[in-house]
Amino acid sequence: CGIVGYVGHQVALDVVIAGLKRLEYRGYDSAGVAVVADGELAMDKRAGKLANLEKSLAEQPLPAGTTGIGHTRWATHGAPNDRNAHPHLDGPGRVAVVHNGIVENFVALRAELAERGVELRSETDTEVVVHLLSEALDAMEADGGARDLAEAMRRVCRRLEGAFTLVAADAAQPDVVVGARRNSPLVVGLGEGENFLASDVAAFIAHTRTALELGQDQVVELRRDGVTVTDFAGAPVETNEYRVDWDASAAEKGGYDYFMLKEIAEQPKAVADTLLGRIGADGQLTLDEVRIPDSVLREIDKIVIIACGTSFHAGLIAKYAIEHWTRIPCEVEVASEFRYRDPILDQQTLVVAISQSGESMDTLMALRHAREQGAKVLAICNTNGSTIPRESDAVLYTHAGPEVAVASTKAFLTQLVACYLVALYLGQVRGTKWGDEITEVIRQLADMPQQVERVLDTMEPVRELARSLADARSVLFLGRHVGYPVALEGALKLKELAYMHAEGFAAGELKHGPIALIEEGLPVVVVVPSPRGRSVLHDKIVSNIQEIRARGARTIVVAEEGDEAVVPFADHLVRIPRTPVLLQPLVATVPLQVFACELATAKGHEVDQPRNLAKSVTVE
Ligand code: G6P
Repeated sequence: CGIVGYVGHQVALDVVIAGLKRLEYRGYDSAGVAVVADGELAMDKRAGKLANLEKSLAEQPLPAGTTGIGHTRWATHGAPNDRNAHPHLDGPGRVAVVHNGIVENFVALRAELAERGVELRSETDTEVVVHLLSEALDAMEADGGARDLAEAMRRVCRRLEGAFTLVAADAAQPDVVVGARRNSPLVVGLGEGENFLASDVAAFIAHTRTALELGQDQVVELRRDGVTVTDFAGAPVETNEYRVDWDASAAEKGGYDYFMLKEIAEQPKAVADTLLGRIGADGQLTLDEVRIPDSVLREIDKIVIIACGTSFHAGLIAKYAIEHWTRIPCEVEVASEFRYRDPILDQQTLVVAISQSGESMDTLMALRHAREQGAKVLAICNTNGSTIPRESDAVLYTHAGPEVAVASTKAFLTQLVACYLVALYLGQVRGTKWGDEITEVIRQLADMPQQVERVLDTMEPVRELARSLADARSVLFLGRHVGYPVALEGALKLKELAYMHAEGFAAGELKHGPIALIEEGLPVVVVVPSPRGRSVLHDKIVSNIQEIRARGARTIVVAEEGDEAVVPFADHLVRIPRTPVLLQPLVATVPLQVFACELATAKGHEVDQPRNLAKSVTVE
């Protein structure tokens, strides 16, 4: 979910709505706002996208207060209807709360409230919070004191289990908004005579680039002229101010119809930015940020990569590079499975956590488990100051810039670059028999932005092909070696964007079952490894293409320039530049992204916000 809070001199509703627009990638099941004006709280909330709420506000405007909160929801508890939308209000409608995460003990808290005669109006876990807050504030007044929203929030947070970001407002305290966080993100934006709270800096970047990180289990009180941060017990805590290194235009569409198109087009720059400053003039890598001493890196005897979704696919590719260049055994696992199977880890294990957002709860929980077992954790992350890098021993940032489309494209390519850098760096530090190859690959890595650019320049036939397949029922993707995870990613993109059945398989595994799926006219995308390097693989996949074609498949072959062996068996041929074998995913993934994006558009889907998904999933 996405959350915004504002106290200042502007019309709060406008600031909050503009902020929510920037956060809609975090969920779009419903949206809502509450503002404090003239000592009253006014609220509106609607199921569906933010546009529904805007329509409703246009018909029935809220008063123009300067204090407000807002929410865009990715449903967990309760259906995505108006009633379950946030904000939630207390009985008298004086206190409003928005929430991201899950209150795990909400059943017990609900029962407790019901026993005291509190009437609950929604099916959400969130509603218990607002009633508890309201009770705490009333108790303060009953004791003869003043209502103190921050103190009430601390009291309530001490009773909550699970993961939550909460932001609240109280009609009786018109110049205050209070936020709290445990395990899910919340950042403070510091302005002049105005301050902001949001799940992501994108929500307030148009107003200020100065931000404040909030730590785990902290409460922030936001006023016009300053912010106060404490822990849940009320003790003041030190905060870390930082400057956001991109501006509002980076989070806008810049002339493209969709963010996804813009982000696909930005990939050459994203790759170049991620390489920038990391390859020395002598062709050696310098990864200064990886603050794990070389002596420790030399002792590593196992690498475990944990990630979700597209980031997991980057990890699968990294395994090939890491094992080849470093000879260190490497496992890759989806983060949601990792900690529950009691994995074997110790001080000599390096865990690499890959996450675009730096907030995926599955990955965060997996990395905490790894650190508890004594493993060192290196994060590969695209979001400065997010939770995953903050809780890791070291971080290698990808410099893709803000990625707004829910399905990941440019972040994926930069994750690959970061993974290659880690693998090559480990190879360099440990000295392997591949020393010469490593030097050569580092040189070729520097050339990859141009290669990605060349792919983008030749995508028109891919778009045409995608449009012609808008009515296909299913598409299969095959690959070998690093082309196998590329096939998985191609299939995932199609599922996410086009809501089509799509599966990726290791081409060699086809004959063990999936070949039964092949029927007349079924589109099958085949990612062909370079005929140079591991040429056996190339010959084998050429046979696989013939096998499926003989059974009626319509073959879409992604192959290197100059690879003539595939030509007779390709119904459609997509050319990609020659690259070193292990780097091929950087160019081979791009046509598959374009293919999925165009096919989804042809089907009339909105590619930036696919149904049921959210970009940053802060629940397990
Ligand atoms: C969500 C998104 C995916 C993303 C995955 C991992 O499911 O919809 O696009 O790959 O999370 O996100 P992360 O931010 O950890 O890379």
